[in-house]
Amino acid sequence: MNKNFYITTPIYYPSGKPHMGHAYSSIIADIFARFKRIEGYNVLFLTGTDEHGQKIQKEAEKNNKDPKIFCDELSDKFRSLTKILNLTNDDFIRTSEKRHSKSVNELWKKLVKSGDIYLDKYSGWYSVSDEAFYDEDEIEVKEGKKISKSSGSLVEWVEEESYFFKLSSWTKKLLEHYKNNKEFILPVSRKNEVINFVEKGLKDLSISRTSFSWGISVPNNKKHIIYVWLDALTNYISALNFPDTNDKKYKMFWPADVHIIGKDILRFHAIYWPAFLLAANLPLPKRVFGHGWILSDQKKMSKSLGNILDPIEIINKYGIDQLRYYLVKEVSLGNDGSISMENLKNCINNDLANNFGNLCQRVFTFVKKNCDNKIPKANKLDAKDEKLLNNLKENVKNLIAAMDKQNLNEYIKTVVGYSFDANKYFNDSEPWSIKKKDPERMKSILFTILEQIKNLSILLNPIIPIATGKVLTSMNLSIDDISIKSIINKNVLNHDKELKNLEILFKKIENDN
Ligand code: MSP
Repeated sequence: MNKNFYITTPIYYPSGKPHMGHAYSSIIADIFARFKRIEGYNVLFLTGTDEHGQKIQKEAEKNNKDPKIFCDELSDKFRSLTKILNLTNDDFIRTSEKRHSKSVNELWKKLVKSGDIYLDKYSGWYSVSDEAFYDEDEIEVKEGKKISKSSGSLVEWVEEESYFFKLSSWTKKLLEHYKNNKEFILPVSRKNEVINFVEKGLKDLSISRTSFSWGISVPNNKKHIIYVWLDALTNYISALNFPDTNDKKYKMFWPADVHIIGKDILRFHAIYWPAFLLAANLPLPKRVFGHGWILSDQKKMSKSLGNILDPIEIINKYGIDQLRYYLVKEVSLGNDGSISMENLKNCINNDLANNFGNLCQRVFTFVKKNCDNKIPKANKLDAKDEKLLNNLKENVKNLIAAMDKQNLNEYIKTVVGYSFDANKYFNDSEPWSIKKKDPERMKSILFTILEQIKNLSILLNPIIPIATGKVLTSMNLSIDDISIKSIINKNVLNHDKELKNLEILFKKIENDN
């Protein structure tokens, strides 16, 4: 069985400082990366910045900066966000790096060799903000301005010499690929969108521009800059040292298991990218997952709308585990979701502070008082104990299957359900009322609940790594014990060492906060 797993985020435009939408894509990808690691996979998790093109050049000019210096500064902000979000990315790629331009050059040459590139003239609509070409039927006039129907961003008329990629000739092959690989595009609603679009027939794609200079030049024709999307998409293989297809990294990790992206960039990932790869005779990624948008005031966040939510402000106030949990629990991954600070507070209080956090605290305090602060062994488990533990253990297979389809909402709902069950079990079992009368039974209850706290901490670890790390460390478990195997296997708990002190995991948020 292939035990390697390659997952990517979109690479972000360093045109402004990162916002909650960017944080969302990255957090989601990190959760899957962490889950696969605890499942025992060698994971490669890639993120980075997309630095070329007209959009960035214009933004740099607006700020009176050389584009490279401008990108250096903003790319650093995205890089430091990876730490703030507690991401476990193994690499951070910048498209201004040499390893990347080398890879883009080679991909271009392959497309020339395969006969998929020709020189002509482009005339049509272009949105600098989306870095996308639009057909006449994809634009509309609003308040006297021509905008893209899908993104609402301004379009301008462009007429220039351009290299084209023979996208039209890949229509049939793409449709075949979607048909034969039912889960290539998820969620299903997104797949249908793409298929409908492709079925209408694809036009050849302009893949070079001549009206600005910030980007990678076309090999042998320096007048042309390679279209920023062809440039950007290639990052997924540049990070694996393409064009060296014998490289260990490339061999281990290509094709990627999943590209996590927002639905706004589905067309680029589910149509253009696979078409480039087909033409270059390279394997296609196994999946493109398009998540919905985080809405602020019911609208997609954007600089021009002025409704940007700053993830760093929220994290400073409420904590990163708290934000990660909230985004997973309260936003449906495939759909758009509004977020509000009110809901975030309720979620922290009800799910994290009152439920999981409080359970750990109460159980640890009880063990300290009544069992010399050590996890007791159980001589005999009764039906209720077995049921609590087995419900979870027997469902691990299904949880893995849910995560394999990026069904994060089902996963979290199930795990939170187990956490509520564990709380109820502890309350109903009342170990405090039998500690004198039946100390053996008390030990069985404590063993059961601690075993379950360990299991819950492992399952919640990809989502709230800091808090669950504290719980597991307090139980004297090591990083290696944070694995799905440690849920299935018995006898992972350490009965010899005293529990370490467990600080409050989630403070309740008062209303005036
Ligand atoms: N640079 C391109 C991606 C190239 S990938 C080869 C790009 N960058 S971006 O910075 O504009 O946005 C990247 C991603 O951020 C979006 O696809 C999406 O995943 C995420 N989001 C940006 N705004 C968002 C929301 N409001 N909500 C959720 N995610 C959104 O596109």
